Amino acid sequence: MPTYPENPNNLEITASSRNPTDPPDPARPTDPPHPARPARPARPARPQTVLLTGASGVLGTALLPYLHLRHHHVIALTHRRPLSSGAEVLAGDVTRPRLGLDVASYRHLCARTDAVVHAAGMVAFGSGRASMHAVNVEGAGRVARFAADAGVPLIHVSTAYVARYREILAAGGNRAERAGNSPADYVASKTAGEEAVAAAGGKVTVVRPSIIIGDSVTGEIAEPQGLHIFAQQVLRNRLPFVPSDPASYVDFVPQDVVARAIVSLLDDGAHPAEHWLSGGAHALTCDRLVQVIVEEAAEAGIAVRPLRVLAPDVVERLVRPAFFDVVPEWAQTRLDRLLDMSSVLFNEKPLPSSLTDVPGIGAAAGVRANEDAWRASVRRLIADRLGARASA
Ligand SMILES: NC(=O)c1ccc[n+]([C@@H]2O[C@H](COP(=O)([O-])OP(=O)(O)OC[C@H]3O[C@@H](n4cnc5c(N)ncnc54)[C@H](OP(=O)(O)O)[C@@H]3O)[C@@H](O)[C@H]2O)c1
Repeated sequence: MPTYPENPNNLEITASSRNPTDPPDPARPTDPPHPARPARPARPARPQTVLLTGASGVLGTALLPYLHLRHHHVIALTHRRPLSSGAEVLAGDVTRPRLGLDVASYRHLCARTDAVVHAAGMVAFGSGRASMHAVNVEGAGRVARFAADAGVPLIHVSTAYVARYREILAAGGNRAERAGNSPADYVASKTAGEEAVAAAGGKVTVVRPSIIIGDSVTGEIAEPQGLHIFAQQVLRNRLPFVPSDPASYVDFVPQDVVARAIVSLLDDGAHPAEHWLSGGAHALTCDRLVQVIVEEAAEAGIAVRPLRVLAPDVVERLVRPAFFDVVPEWAQTRLDRLLDMSSVLFNEKPLPSSLTDVPGIGAAAGVRANEDAWRASVRRLIADRLGARASA
């Protein structure tokens, strides 16, 4: 049985307080559809009407159950994908004037909204500079203007990688463009997005998660992210090597930790602030990240070839000159993408982190918690995507 925190207002869930094998409890129909549910907290002092953008996305999907648990009324601004979550739905588009609403609907929404959580974004590195700008910069500015028009607080979701913009840009260069993928463009758009939000005025809290991985206990996530794809390639023996320093940091944060942080900041009466939702100095090293994949593979009976971790400059100096003339273009592109991805995934210095400053999130901030969460994600990946091989 899970043990629930004694203080019902405490959103902190630790691995020991949640049991992934607990069956869903039909007597608690408003709990999130999640095998390891958080404790039901007391009703907050004032349930709010929250406008949520990006509700169908990875973060939005993780966030909705936590908002419902706090009895907030959620108005989800949906875009292309439908939503089946119990939230009130309003079709819109953050790139269009008035979020794509007519004047009357915009005013009505302003009058009804108590707070805004902006989790819509264009995250695919290959989606192109123009679309990233439209959504991540102009869209962010429009949502911030809406919050200012409504006179309500805004929680804007940015990325912890704004701290590494210059390094990512330097590591990307032409290679990124040739591979049709640009982490630098993404980070540039998120950086400019923060500026657009600030320019709109209003009461803004910026949260900056690092790479979002699955739930810290179950590994559940709506869609695999870059780190999942990396792990999948390791598990399928598709990577010739990992272009990174073995001691470099790989910063990620479980989706439930980001969701709990946002809900906690909302309950706290979001005020002008910035929060780095990241592992920081507690992030795993690249070596340890790969080791956990190998250990979980062994546990599942999957044979993973020994993997070398090669510093990117060694790849540039030795591997590229020796092999690039003889491998086909698709193989060159794959290597370029791997190097681009590694410029984001693996960091020489820790990212900033202020996770422990968010009320109720402290226990998620240790190395051990990070390793346990990564293990949960790898296990989930093996079960969901490599099930046949895992049981072979
Ligand atoms: N995933 C990560 O690892 C990560 C890490 C740090 C920060 N973040 C940030 O977290 C936020 C959410 O990321 P995510 O991973 O949840 O992204 P995601 O899974 O790709 O979801 C993006 C969401 O944005 C919506 N959206 C896109 N264009 C829109 C538009 N023009 N108008 C209204 N809604 C629109 C999408 O709706 P439709 O699908 O219906 O278009 C979807 O709900 C982003 O700001 C991202 O930069 C993500």
